[in-house]
Amino acid sequence: MAQTLPKTMLTILTLLLFSLIVHAQSHQFSRKLPHKSLGLMKEKLSHLHFYFHDIVSGKHPTAVRIAQAATTNTSSTGFGFTVMIDDPLTVGPERNSKIVGRAQGIYAADDLNELSIIMVLNYVFVEGKYNGSTLSILGRNLVTSKVREMPIVGGSGLFRFARGYALAKTHFLNVSTGDAVVEYNVYVLHY
Ligand SMILES: *[C@@H]1O[C@H](CO)[C@@H](O)[C@H](O)[C@H]1NC(C)=O
Ligand SMILES: *[C@@H]1O[C@H](CO)[C@@H](O)[C@H](O)[C@H]1NC(C)=O
Ligand SMILES: *[C@@H]1O[C@H](CO)[C@@H](O)[C@H](O)[C@H]1NC(C)=O
Repeated sequence: MAQTLPKTMLTILTLLLFSLIVHAQSHQFSRKLPHKSLGLMKEKLSHLHFYFHDIVSGKHPTAVRIAQAATTNTSSTGFGFTVMIDDPLTVGPERNSKIVGRAQGIYAADDLNELSIIMVLNYVFVEGKYNGSTLSILGRNLVTSKVREMPIVGGSGLFRFARGYALAKTHFLNVSTGDAVVEYNVYVLHY
């Protein structure tokens, strides 16, 4: 008896360990994959150029203020105003130029001392092979500076694993309405 008990316990422990290993294998949380298993061959660098139309006025605005703080109106930088956008992206600067995509998301004034906004949005492309692919932007847009740089933090479709940056330059601002056309140069690494 004194000898069989430890033996039985050893058998139970062995079985337990074995079942744990089997269990871990059938529910594997992570594993390493070769790049080619997802068809990722060589990383490419693409340059995209388009115009962003921020239409705040008229009957069909594409940028609408959805929220603000009680103190926004008295803030010199409009701190707290929040705008939802679905802005057209076009090949040329004219409003009726060919649409290559849309900028969908939010921008909001997040700086107490400077006229700067945080951009949290996706470029949703519709042009050619890019149709359905997106790029995600998360960055600071210091509106008063001539060229603003914002990081591209990811993408989908053709832009899976994307990273890069966007350079924004105001092309035209209608000071009476606030409507703006912004030229974008986007440099993005992807596969
Ligand atoms: C801020 O100004 C806007 C536009 O002038 C006005 O519609 C709104 O009621 C004001 N909000 C506050 C909290 O005073
Ligand atoms: C983009 O893809 C959608 C959905 O597949 C399709 O309906 C649309 O016609 C395409 N647009 C262009 C410009 O190819
Ligand atoms: C600004 O927009 C208004 C209203 O659409 C328009 O009448 C005016 O001509 C525009 N100003 C400029 C400089 O384009």
